[in-house]
Amino acid sequence: MMITWLSFRVMFSLYILLSFTWHSCFCATIKPIVSPKNNETRARLKIELKNCGLNQIKDISSRLRIIGGREAIKGTWPWQVALLNHYREPFCGGTLITPQFVLTAAHCVRRKLYVRAGEHDLMTNEGTEQEIKVDHVFIHPSFDRETVDSDIALLHLKAPFKLGKYVATACLPSRKDEIEIDSLGTILGWGKQKNSAMFGTDVLHQARVPIANISDCRNVYEDYFISNNMLCAGFRSGRVDSCAGDSGGPLLFQKRSRWVIYGITSFGEGCGRKEKYGIYAKVPNFVKWIRRVIHRHS
Ligand SMILES: *[C@@H]1O[C@H](CO)[C@@H](O)[C@H](O)[C@H]1NC(C)=O
Ligand SMILES: *[C@@H]1O[C@H](CO)[C@@H](O)[C@H](O)[C@H]1NC(C)=O
Repeated sequence: MMITWLSFRVMFSLYILLSFTWHSCFCATIKPIVSPKNNETRARLKIELKNCGLNQIKDISSRLRIIGGREAIKGTWPWQVALLNHYREPFCGGTLITPQFVLTAAHCVRRKLYVRAGEHDLMTNEGTEQEIKVDHVFIHPSFDRETVDSDIALLHLKAPFKLGKYVATACLPSRKDEIEIDSLGTILGWGKQKNSAMFGTDVLHQARVPIANISDCRNVYEDYFISNNMLCAGFRSGRVDSCAGDSGGPLLFQKRSRWVIYGITSFGEGCGRKEKYGIYAKVPNFVKWIRRVIHRHS
């Protein structure tokens, strides 16, 4: 009995030793492999991220650098999407950055979300709309509900949108991109959070707003924490026009004829209020995180 037990133990140890060396040798000889699927996905993503920021329908008047807000021309902002709640009511904006990912504000995240692209007039079915359910939400790990710092989230859709004339993606900035003070960005939104009598319609609006000096902005928002992850834009004198943007919607700049998202409308629209800028999440600070999430979950 004793002998069999002993020999069993010896054999077992030998087996463990052998299998261990076998496995370690086996592992050591094989290089990390990239599966063809990963490779394909990576190549597809690269193309998707590159084909961005171009609209087939152009608004010629925007070249005139009109400051202020007005109705958008249908199809000129094909990356603009509406976020819909459980009851399918639009309540926030967002920006399509790949056919299956939407960039928005973290404070817009709800348990159940739908995204509608190809939208212009919320009250009319124009035949260009596509609506897809959100199946996964990525809130930035540094998002702070109290200070609203890092107010950024990515929404993954159950299926990709079909791209075309009315649905396209906006470009991501590069990490080091700096935005000059007083340069004019474009904000978009259906402006649902304000008095609807102001516009009397449910069509998409656009406005041009200048980037503000952050120290001026901190002086104006004394009671708030304006972090380095935020951009301030708009008019200190608080023009009514500057409140066209919805939460979660973009602050865009055109770079080399492509539209790039530099900000996400976060808080403090101050529609018509004096001395209030709009606060935007500063997208260049989050590009690394955005790319990582997209690559891991595509
Ligand atoms: C992966 O992509 C690289 C370059 O993009 C290519 O050279 C290689 O053949 C691809 N491998 C597979 C397994 O598809
Ligand atoms: C912003 O304003 C402050 C004071 O008003 C000034 O000292 C600073 O140089 C300005 N910054 C830029 C980048 O213009």
